[in-house]
Amino acid sequence: MKKLIIANWKMNMTSVDVVPFLEEIFPSVEASNADIVIAPSFPLLSVVRGQLEKPLMLGAQDVSAFSKGAYTGDVAAEQLVDMRVKFAIVGHSERRAQHNETNALCNEKMLRALEAGITPVYCIGESAEEKKNGETLAVVKKQLKEGLKNIDTSKVIVAYEPVWAIGTGVTPTAEEIETTHAAIRKIVGAHARILYGGSANEKNAAEILHITNVDGLLVGSASLNSHKFASIIQTV
Ligand code: 13P
Repeated sequence: MKKLIIANWKMNMTSVDVVPFLEEIFPSVEASNADIVIAPSFPLLSVVRGQLEKPLMLGAQDVSAFSKGAYTGDVAAEQLVDMRVKFAIVGHSERRAQHNETNALCNEKMLRALEAGITPVYCIGESAEEKKNGETLAVVKKQLKEGLKNIDTSKVIVAYEPVWAIGTGVTPTAEEIETTHAAIRKIVGAHARILYGGSANEKNAAEILHITNVDGLLVGSASLNSHKFASIIQTV
């Protein structure tokens, strides 16, 4: 399966940062065998879109659970399609924690994305407490069961992002990633890509990408630095 590297810029960058960043990573993007996606904040979608003659694809960090209407602050899947967005991150742990997003809400968001032709990137993963209690696989299975209800699993991307690994510089061991990804694979089948996210960087990318059932990376802070992100891309 072709590897997929997604830059989740979170709530960072402004319009002046975008063009120099993309110019700096472009040689690595062109030389890479991976699919590369940039997921900026909504206001920057049109700025990145202006650079899309380059072999990059565009992702959004969220999508509304509603298709259109009186939902102030929401962004509809159809509006994302209008911006040439191909992927939408759904259920990131920051949104689950800060905006109380549930598996059921994520399910609605993914249904809207798929109806519009956007591939959802469904984020799952256990908290530090759940890991300590040995609940990792149970948590992940529940998130998949509830989040992917009535969804053709071959049409989604799953990102395993242990909450305790995000922004901490700590990652699970290769064995832990392999075990969890194997459990996810059993549920989503052979055709869904399964990404790893959580402190993925230019130093550990090659090792993580070699783990069985790791089909790519969802990169946070290391995706904000063009040199670091370019070297991640170069590992593929
Ligand atoms: P970091 O790479 O900064 O740990 O963030 C990971 C993440 O949340 C990507 O969605």
